[in-house]
Amino acid sequence: MTAYKLPPIDPSEITPRDLFQDRRRFMQLAAGASLSALLPHTVLAGEQLAGVTKSTDPLAAELTPYKDVTSYNNFYEFGTGKEDPTQNAGNLKTRPWTITVEGEVNKPKVFDIDELLKLAPLEERIYRLRCVEAWSMVIPWIGFPLAELLKRVEPTGNAKFVEFISLHDPEQMAGQKSPVLNWPYKEGLRMDEAMHPLTLLTVGLYGEVLPKQNGAPVRIVIPWKYGFKSAKSIVKIRLVEKQPDTSWMQAGPNEYGFYANVNPAVDHPRWSQAKERRIGDFLKRPTLPFNGYGDQVAQLYAGMDLNKNF
Ligand code: MTE
Repeated sequence: MTAYKLPPIDPSEITPRDLFQDRRRFMQLAAGASLSALLPHTVLAGEQLAGVTKSTDPLAAELTPYKDVTSYNNFYEFGTGKEDPTQNAGNLKTRPWTITVEGEVNKPKVFDIDELLKLAPLEERIYRLRCVEAWSMVIPWIGFPLAELLKRVEPTGNAKFVEFISLHDPEQMAGQKSPVLNWPYKEGLRMDEAMHPLTLLTVGLYGEVLPKQNGAPVRIVIPWKYGFKSAKSIVKIRLVEKQPDTSWMQAGPNEYGFYANVNPAVDHPRWSQAKERRIGDFLKRPTLPFNGYGDQVAQLYAGMDLNKNF
């Protein structure tokens, strides 16, 4: 992501470093250094999540190594560099933690995170994550459909959109001391997108409790949209009648739209979205419409001009 208030970076300036990193990763792979992806989950650092239904998704053959998933992150609350979150998120306090669900609902409720974890059976979901910066990963997330939570608060007929609000605490999140984005981080979905069974309320990955740099203790994952839609460390979910403003729309309205469906046919104003570099790969691969989930979600946008509603 390149924030609006930062000086724009010409992608040609960053390519050599990306290439260098990819070459290094390629050599590490060749040397077997990314063995962590092949080891059983029990040897990984971090607390295991119990009672998770395992996925049989064929994408399991393409998993991005645990090390990359947890050390190459976007989490601007902890800095704008890819290695900043893993270095700076360690002090984030994830207990106690509550999520307030409010707005256009009959039964507003404050959920304690440990109560939330037991609300519905935990499933492993292997999803592609496509970042708007044209890189991607394949991640075995753990969670349950957001719809399970939303049903419990009984949305009213006026609930047309859902707003997600991340934690705002500059003492814990030093990145919030600079105005890179309008804090707190805010994202949103249309109600039917939020209720779609692919939209995952996510509490873990690779068998473990969600690492802090990946958005502990709870985040959203929407696999057919660019990664920035997947707000991390959320404390509030608000059901509203009007389309909410999001932090990235406020930062660059011409660059980051509300829908943000992965779309190889609509370029970012400063770079192409036709291809992506899978982290760990040397060569780029074509980007798939809706990130490969078109069969499940394309009908949500029937009749909409996706050039305008980018
Ligand atoms: N959520 C918050 N609160 N702050 C952020 O900076 N970055 C987004 C998204 N969620 C971000 C966020 C972006 S740009 C991406 S690509 C994904 O998180 C990255 O998720 P990952 O680090 O778990 O791969």
